[in-house]
Amino acid sequence: MPDGRPIERLVIFGATGDLAARMLLPSLYFLDADNLLPSELKIVASARSEMSRDAFTNYVRDLLKARPEGLDEAVWARFAARLDYLAADVTRGEGLAGVAAEVGARSTIFYLALSPSLYGAVCRALDASGLACGECRIVMEKPLGHDLASSQAINAEVGQVFEERRVFRIDHYLGKETVQNLLALRFANTFFEPLWNNLAIDHVQITVAETEGVGERWRYYDDYGALRDMVQNHMLQLLCLVAMEPPPDAGADSVRDEKVKVLKSLRRFDRATAQQLAVRGQYRAGVVDGRQAPSYVDEKGGPSDTETFVALRADIDNWRWAGVPFYLRTGKRLPERRTQIVIQFKPLPHLIFGERAEEDVSANRLVIDLQPDEDISLLLMNRRPGLTGNRLQALPLSLSLDDGGRRRIAYERLLLDVLAGNQSLFVRRDEVELAWSWIDSIAGAWTDLGITPRPYAAGSWGPAGAFALLERSGRTWLDE
Ligand code: BG6
Repeated sequence: MPDGRPIERLVIFGATGDLAARMLLPSLYFLDADNLLPSELKIVASARSEMSRDAFTNYVRDLLKARPEGLDEAVWARFAARLDYLAADVTRGEGLAGVAAEVGARSTIFYLALSPSLYGAVCRALDASGLACGECRIVMEKPLGHDLASSQAINAEVGQVFEERRVFRIDHYLGKETVQNLLALRFANTFFEPLWNNLAIDHVQITVAETEGVGERWRYYDDYGALRDMVQNHMLQLLCLVAMEPPPDAGADSVRDEKVKVLKSLRRFDRATAQQLAVRGQYRAGVVDGRQAPSYVDEKGGPSDTETFVALRADIDNWRWAGVPFYLRTGKRLPERRTQIVIQFKPLPHLIFGERAEEDVSANRLVIDLQPDEDISLLLMNRRPGLTGNRLQALPLSLSLDDGGRRRIAYERLLLDVLAGNQSLFVRRDEVELAWSWIDSIAGAWTDLGITPRPYAAGSWGPAGAFALLERSGRTWLDE
């Protein structure tokens, strides 16, 4: 629940890094432009390197100016007045003396835009320097650990200093407009809910495809791979929002309790199922967007057994979803950028329109596009107008969520919610740990079996096994 006192300080540790430059600082600027930041809020940027306040402010100005939206001088003047910069070694209590002097006893948000391996040390240092006051909140980025054990260790260290209601674990997918709209679609309409189960739904596909390679993030990525980088968090969050039961209300714990039940119902993998139902791939050289792309191993690093592609079949063992596969697929250097959820309904039980109509008919499908466009369409069968017999056609009933305005950065929503103390769009400790325990069942079996990623050409939809995964049950990826 939100605390009474407005937040007066937002301290960003790692403020000269990539996340702050691409997401946090622009999001804060846009919130300021919309008059959504508390007037008293000061933003204290902190990183290891010595830099003057002016130098930091110029750096922020340059990066905002370089954005396509451009810079509004009046907003900038207001925003710049909020900024301060302090060099600090965040892992040592004494290193935080400058921050402590600036923050004092004010209610503060500490944003850790740092490597998660530092989270424990930073929390201890905040505690030692008297900064972890009862009004403070801490924001942490993924990946929270590399597996269940390391994730538990981080959560335990953080938990010793900050109670759970002060901990905001970011999954930036939850800040995306269409992801939030999933709840409205499911729970603000009456007609989906009676069909939202194994009686009417054949299967679900969730795709997060990227055309980009790993690039400058190679070293980080090579330690994690697509399973830990994307499936453990973003994709499981999407799966949970599709699969969860209606919560009693939209409150943070009500929604998160339901997501936790889904995670508990996910069928764990064993050696046999990890081999059959979870496909690993790694891109080789190829052509993406008409341009030659190097292979993963040639991009930066060297020989590697890290996957850049995963396709798998998840099964949810509960009454609603028994027998309904959820196919998840994600990868780098795929043919297009697309984040999409497809709810494929069952075929008609019986067709009354004769043989010719048989070739026209396709089962109803709800397609939720998150990226690059944000829209929702429901594929419905219609009669083709005319006198030439009963021919049918599938037509989409479409809802575009593009209002022509600026597409907000997901972090804008999330930062606003941290400021308000609303945890609905943040991941609770038990969610993170349950997700890891499921991921461990896949990663562990791959390791035991010595399963290495299969090659796929950059610009293709992944290795052959990804297609076989669905074809075995007479299904295909819905790629049109
Ligand atoms: C991040 C992953 O969490 O999400 C990246 O670490 C990935 O590897 C990114 O590229 C995708 O986010 P979005 O919002 O661009 O779909």
